[in-house]
Amino acid sequence: MARDILKTLKAEHDELRDLFEKLNGTTDRAEKTRAELLAKIDQGLLPHAKWEEMVFYPAFAERAERDGLKTHAEAIEEHRAVEQTVMPDVHDADYATPQFAGRAKVFGEFIDHHAKEEENTMFKMARELFSAEERAAMDEQYEAWKQSEEGMSAVADAAAQTGASDALRH
Ligand SMILES: [Fe+2]
Ligand SMILES: [Fe+2]
Repeated sequence: MARDILKTLKAEHDELRDLFEKLNGTTDRAEKTRAELLAKIDQGLLPHAKWEEMVFYPAFAERAERDGLKTHAEAIEEHRAVEQTVMPDVHDADYATPQFAGRAKVFGEFIDHHAKEEENTMFKMARELFSAEERAAMDEQYEAWKQSEEGMSAVADAAAQTGASDALRH
């Protein structure tokens, strides 16, 4: 099967949804499991979000028309809300409390909503704007970017910004 960046991004959304479902099912006593699941979410989400912001969204905006630019602005705003408010609040909470459970639930709801918007709007448009060859090339670039100096330092910066650094150390 041909590689396709849109399929990769969608598969990553599904992995995150699955992790949030597990996280939402934990009890306040399952502090360690919560920490492990949150670290997995951070590990999956941060490279995904940073690459979208640094590479995919700009490439999309360059070709998009008015409706595309609107969905692009919406996506960036949602990333900002998650990075600046939702994620720091989740990491700031004591994992053994209902406060953590409530914040983690909102985190998952934001991600699911945002992922749906991307899948139903932006990715649909991107399928028209980028050829199959371009989507395959982007998929390879994404894989290489994750291992690159640039990718790893973008993720480390984002981890520091969102309070995820501690979670990732465990
Ligand atoms: Fe996104
Ligand atoms: Fe995404």
